[in-house]
Amino acid sequence: MSDETPAVARTIDEIRARVAGWRAEGLKVALVPTMGALHAGHVLLVETARRHADRVVVSIFVNPTQFAPTEDFTAYPRTFEADLRTLAAVAAEAVYAPAVATMYPPGAATTVKVEGPAAVGLEDASRPFHFAGVATIVAKLFTQVAPDVAVFGEKDFQQLAVIRRMTADLDLAVEVIGSPTLREADGLAMSSRNVYLSPDERAKAPALHRILQEVAAALGGDPAAAVAKGRAAIAAAGFDLDYLELRAADDLGEPRPGVPWRLLVAARLGQTRLIDNIAV
Ligand code: PAF
Repeated sequence: MSDETPAVARTIDEIRARVAGWRAEGLKVALVPTMGALHAGHVLLVETARRHADRVVVSIFVNPTQFAPTEDFTAYPRTFEADLRTLAAVAAEAVYAPAVATMYPPGAATTVKVEGPAAVGLEDASRPFHFAGVATIVAKLFTQVAPDVAVFGEKDFQQLAVIRRMTADLDLAVEVIGSPTLREADGLAMSSRNVYLSPDERAKAPALHRILQEVAAALGGDPAAAVAKGRAAIAAAGFDLDYLELRAADDLGEPRPGVPWRLLVAARLGQTRLIDNIAV
């Protein structure tokens, strides 16, 4: 534990100079990209990064291009001072917190559009522009920070698959590492958006993970029937179901023999959209 506030870089030159200094000393650098509003799940990402590198940079940038106009970009929780305290406690060495104009200067006209796992009818079905925004900002963070490794949570499992695909396709020299989902004691996956849940919704929310586990346990029989039953159970628990799907864990296409499977869900409780997934 340390109480030292991490150095904050606001510009591309500042973060590049810091990382270049470490690299000149032969140190390995990890990046943990975030949109801030840090919670224990992010702390786990930093700890995972620490196991793979000598220095950890955490980026904090609420990326406007991954939000649709109808989504919560303006309302998205911004807790920068608290985030710095969290990162001091976990001894991250640097924070990269660029301005929107740094990431998207006037005239910027390039978007990284991924197909494959970004177009399989999960998150992309209801958020068609989301992954282009994610891939574009992560590609920029990778080229600006130039880390050796980057750590992303498995909670956003489709995002992780998209970033792996993008990194491979653009020959970016970054090792992408997935970190397991951290859960509350009652099973709810930690998320910055959980703060939106009313007390009543928060009480209902753990049912999502419980039903995922029930479906996973029933897959040995008739998988389609188990998934159908899971969909009905999610609706009966008071959620507005977006999808519950069994997919191949690598490209998120249809499940196929010889490839591990993943069960993925998205559902709304009131105004809050929750996602989760488990290995099966
Ligand atoms: O998972 C997130 O917080 C964001 O999608 C990311 C990867 C930081 C890109 O903005």
